[in-house]
Amino acid sequence: MHAASQTLSATFPNRLYRYAVLSNGRRRHDTGPAKLPTRGLVGRTALITGSSSGIGRQAALHLARAGASILCTDLQPEPLGAQKVRAEGSRHVPTHELINSLGGHADFQKLNVTSEADFKTAIDKSVSFSRNARLDILVNNAGITAFSGGIEHESVDVLEKMMQINIKGVWLGTKVGVQQMLKQEPIPFPADLEEELDSFNDVPPSVPLRAPYASQAGSPIPTVGRRDGDQGARGSRGSIIQIASIHGLIGGPSEPAYCASKGAVVNLTRQVACDYAPHRINVNAIAPGYLAGTAMVADISPEIADQRRTYWPHQGSARDVAHGVL
Ligand SMILES: NC(=O)c1ccc[n+]([C@@H]2O[C@H](COP(=O)([O-])OP(=O)(O)OC[C@H]3O[C@@H](n4cnc5c(N)ncnc54)[C@H](O)[C@@H]3O)[C@@H](O)[C@H]2O)c1
Repeated sequence: MHAASQTLSATFPNRLYRYAVLSNGRRRHDTGPAKLPTRGLVGRTALITGSSSGIGRQAALHLARAGASILCTDLQPEPLGAQKVRAEGSRHVPTHELINSLGGHADFQKLNVTSEADFKTAIDKSVSFSRNARLDILVNNAGITAFSGGIEHESVDVLEKMMQINIKGVWLGTKVGVQQMLKQEPIPFPADLEEELDSFNDVPPSVPLRAPYASQAGSPIPTVGRRDGDQGARGSRGSIIQIASIHGLIGGPSEPAYCASKGAVVNLTRQVACDYAPHRINVNAIAPGYLAGTAMVADISPEIADQRRTYWPHQGSARDVAHGVL
């Protein structure tokens, strides 16, 4: 008689120890592949732009904790400047070094998001660094802002820089990411693993499984990922996640070029999602509000901050956004 059990490493829950309790009370350790949703990203590879600070750094840590290998990319591996480090409340350790020191798997590649060549090099590196020779998750996070005041005060230089980094950067990352993901076969994502887990436990799924391909017969939507005998209408070739902004959805004070660039990110996301849903590539955007403790909004005036109050008792954080990414 034995009871299967499992526990998480106290230092880094990424390390899952499974064991069986034997009749003599001793434990037989089993380090075989785990199927828990908490380990849902084991074997998956993620590339994150702007990963050295703020949201990018938190997203890298959260995905690594769920088991993904991470290619951190930014202009430089270290968080930007002492002020940013203070604002983040973290040590001046490059994100990939922090992940590796905690038992994860990460590397760094310099990537300026305005360069298509940089994206190609980084995505090739993430694929060769991946255990499965694929890029599963791309987080287009790098971005800048400028609180210029009304448009009559904003310079063309600010507009051009904002468009280069915030929208051209996301457009390029999405383009090169889609090119790579189209070469990959769809594989299940964590939600599917949860359904599998339910079936192991004889727990009926709380929601019906998604409709199989057969039910799409006659649909005008091409089922590109379809293969004969493929009944599991599950899985994805990859997931692209843009970090947009609440200012891509509504207007906000003092940031005309920023609002324009983030509005473009939001609608680019909608457009690309239409073209590549039939190809089983997930494309989504997250639109955060002002985040406590981030360098980007550290200098905004109390008047502007006041206009962006939330009903929630406290302001969101980069960590909250990282949960959304996960
Ligand atoms: N902080 C907020 O309150 C907030 C709110 C809504 C949306 N956002 C968005 O979230 C994203 C990340 O914001 P954050 O607060 O973490 O910012 P941050 O300034 O802390 O980090 C941005 C990172 O992007 C990098 N970067 C800048 N230009 C780059 C370039 N050309 N190529 C590659 N990397 C570059 C920087 O080096 C930096 O490490 C941005 O797109 C931002 O617009 C932030």
